[in-house]
Amino acid sequence: MNTATATATALRQLKDLPSPPAGLFGGNLMQIKPKQVHRIFEGWARDLGPEFVVWFGKIPSLVLTDHELISKILRERPDDFARTRRVSELGREMGLTPGLFSAEGESWRVQRRMVMSAFSPNQIRAYFPSMLRVTERMQRRWQRAASQGTRIDLLDDLMRYTVDTITGLAFGNDVNTIESDDDIIQQHLNTVFPAMARRAFSVVPYWRWFKLPADRQLDRSIVEINKAIDGFIAQARQRLAQDPARREAPPNLLEAFIVSAEQEGGKISDLEIRGNVLTMLLAGEDTTANSMAWMLSLLKSHPEQLARLQREVREAFPPGQAPTMDVLNRLEFMDACIHETMRLKPVAPFLAVQALREVSINQIRVPRDTIVWTLFRHDATSERYFEQAERFEPQRWMSPGDEADKGGVRPNAKGIAMPFGSGPRICPGRYLALLEIKLCMVMLMRDFDILSVLTDSGGEAGERMSFTMVPDALYMTLASRTPSA
Ligand code: HEM
Repeated sequence: MNTATATATALRQLKDLPSPPAGLFGGNLMQIKPKQVHRIFEGWARDLGPEFVVWFGKIPSLVLTDHELISKILRERPDDFARTRRVSELGREMGLTPGLFSAEGESWRVQRRMVMSAFSPNQIRAYFPSMLRVTERMQRRWQRAASQGTRIDLLDDLMRYTVDTITGLAFGNDVNTIESDDDIIQQHLNTVFPAMARRAFSVVPYWRWFKLPADRQLDRSIVEINKAIDGFIAQARQRLAQDPARREAPPNLLEAFIVSAEQEGGKISDLEIRGNVLTMLLAGEDTTANSMAWMLSLLKSHPEQLARLQREVREAFPPGQAPTMDVLNRLEFMDACIHETMRLKPVAPFLAVQALREVSINQIRVPRDTIVWTLFRHDATSERYFEQAERFEPQRWMSPGDEADKGGVRPNAKGIAMPFGSGPRICPGRYLALLEIKLCMVMLMRDFDILSVLTDSGGEAGERMSFTMVPDALYMTLASRTPSA
């Protein structure tokens, strides 16, 4: 790819690329069902090849599947490509304070530095005790379910786990949705995602002219969320003033942001801190919870892999032994299971970016403002790169020489699945998310036998896009390994 300004005449034009047959009105727009948008694009890619165009009305969007092209484009941010303006427009219209996810240019650079400083390895160590507390609460909740023989609504429980972990860290205050349903702020936050998903694919932006009850509820929720975050920022400043030692390794994201913003010498406003607290909640909860749900669903349908993971965890952590970060980081098969889950079930199976100037991509002239859809899962599930690509084979991610390294990752295959994106905007929360997943999975494998993980129909979990890729409802039953506890 050459993203230099396109001047040559031999470039291909978007209108000459293949595209799915368009309808009478709206080009391909009417064929896109929002909840299945990823599947629809992946299906078109199978029929049309690695580069094609989808028409949104009379406006063409370029769609790409080649992982090398995709990672090159994602590396050309923030200068040549940005997130689509639709994302920031939607957020702004909803009254959400913008943060890193929707920032661009210099503002993105400054905010990225602040956010990255809150995710350094040292900082993540400082968050570990609070993450452990949340895991212990989850353990008690699941012990109760196991002893009463009740089935667990898996997505609901995993959301409680990630909400308590991330919201606790982002607000700097303990949040306990695992043991109570009283967290008012979380109830307000729960209105944000469905509204975003609803509006993102709405053909007419009706809310600009009139508001339905759901839109009015959303407005009220956003006011409450903003008020609460401002209150948490004030409390965090007070704690830092009273105990300056906290500045060495702030025990939560909010205090880390404040300390780093001070070091930026006034380049980051309180509004930007608020925007980034909110961004952590929106970017960090559903993604991690859904990834864990997919992992459990895949493990339960592959009993030999589940047994191997249980063996690894149980050897490292006998019942009752609290996990440490160092031992967690040595769980090779656990890592492999997470990679393999994210290869097959990435919660962000595609990413759309927008060209900031005219560029050429693989000899295609891409005018300024064109939206480019990058489909992550195409190559990640291609036989060209992975043997028996559709199979759940965590062993393929084990390091060479390992006895189980026969799952068929071709030598250059790492870096093909991009579950956390790629380039300078790669997910800053990835190490935190991995730690969160490992902590929960270790607790589950160490203290419980998993009796079932089932959908309502008993079949395989279907996929639904709702900002992230969510599985159908899943229910889990457990037996405790320490019944007397
Ligand atoms: C399994 C869990 C997660 C997955 C799969 C995931 C995936 C992603 C992906 C695909 C992107 C887009 C990257 C790009 O544009 O190249 C992203 C961005 C981002 N993620 Fe995550 N994420 C996860 C967890 C988290 C967590 C726990 C946090 C924070 C607490 C977080 C915060 C962010 C932020 C702030 C961005 C925007 C970065 C920027 O634009 O510079 N994510 N994530």
